[in-house]
Amino acid sequence: MSVTTEIKMTLQTLRRFTVLALFGVALSTPALADDAPKWSLAVHGGAGVLERGELTPEKDKAFRAGLDAALEAGAKVLKAGGSSLDAVEAAVRVLEDNPLFNAGKGAVFTAEGRNELDAAIMDGATLKAGAVAGVTRTRNPISLARAVMEKSPHVLLAREGADQFSKEKGLEQAPPEYFYTEERWKQLLAWRKDHQAMLDPTHLFGTVGAVALDQAGHVAAATSTGGMTGKRWGRIGDSPIIGAGTYARDGDCAVSATGSGEYFIRESAARQVCDRIAWKGETVQQAADGTMASITKIGGDGGLIAIDGQGRAAFGMNDLGMYRGAISSAAPTPRTAIYADEPSPR
Ligand code: GLY
Repeated sequence: MSVTTEIKMTLQTLRRFTVLALFGVALSTPALADDAPKWSLAVHGGAGVLERGELTPEKDKAFRAGLDAALEAGAKVLKAGGSSLDAVEAAVRVLEDNPLFNAGKGAVFTAEGRNELDAAIMDGATLKAGAVAGVTRTRNPISLARAVMEKSPHVLLAREGADQFSKEKGLEQAPPEYFYTEERWKQLLAWRKDHQAMLDPTHLFGTVGAVALDQAGHVAAATSTGGMTGKRWGRIGDSPIIGAGTYARDGDCAVSATGSGEYFIRESAARQVCDRIAWKGETVQQAADGTMASITKIGGDGGLIAIDGQGRAAFGMNDLGMYRGAISSAAPTPRTAIYADEPSPR
């Protein structure tokens, strides 16, 4: 570490300490509590207007099984002492491969009938991040986002350039028909008829994401999405925007959001959660709720998942539901919830 970096970090620590001391709150990076989990993971599969009874029992079961599978994939990495970065990538890949969720295989269609995928990943230990927007050929966009982070000097690559980078770096390619699902196509046809922004109320915002704390105390976040049915003009949402839909910073938190992306961008939602913890001394749940309140205030909706430096998971939403789940060393069986009035797993 250079002397300049060291001085900068010391000044940052002093500034944070002063602010927190003034407000009489605890530092945001306390020593691990005795009962804190050694590792922890939370996932989401999108938020929306989910009335109880709208999902058939079979669909309810299938969504929960999808979340369970993602939790198990990430937990396997964390249990074995792997990194939070590997865990969130593994969890999101499972959700991307599941046609029920709006990411990868289950992505929604643009107005022109294409699938344009966005994804981002962030490493809380180094503040390194990678993201892609509007990609069309990569089976698992989250792995492409990671390749941008690790194999390019950039943070965000878009459209044809990102597709080309994907091929050059040897990521698994998929033909356009791989992303076709009948349900999403029907949603597009209905959208074209009525020009409604969204038609399936149970899938208003079907982004997927994961946040994790590993045994070394590092956090990471990952988000992947097909965006919105009928999107046009190269529209990009919050998911691949670092600080909006995705953010991670060791000691504070890791966040992945889902919802009306434009509002999450305007509120710097993911970064806002971490800053509330760092600068205001809020708990991760207070920070998640406070951030969702700021989204509500400007007319946005959706939800977010967050995990703090102690592995405490928090879920915030202003919709009737969010597909969500958690698992940790303290509670090592996957637990899921869908409806807003269903207790969130901790
Ligand atoms: N939150 C996903 C999007 O707006 O694209």
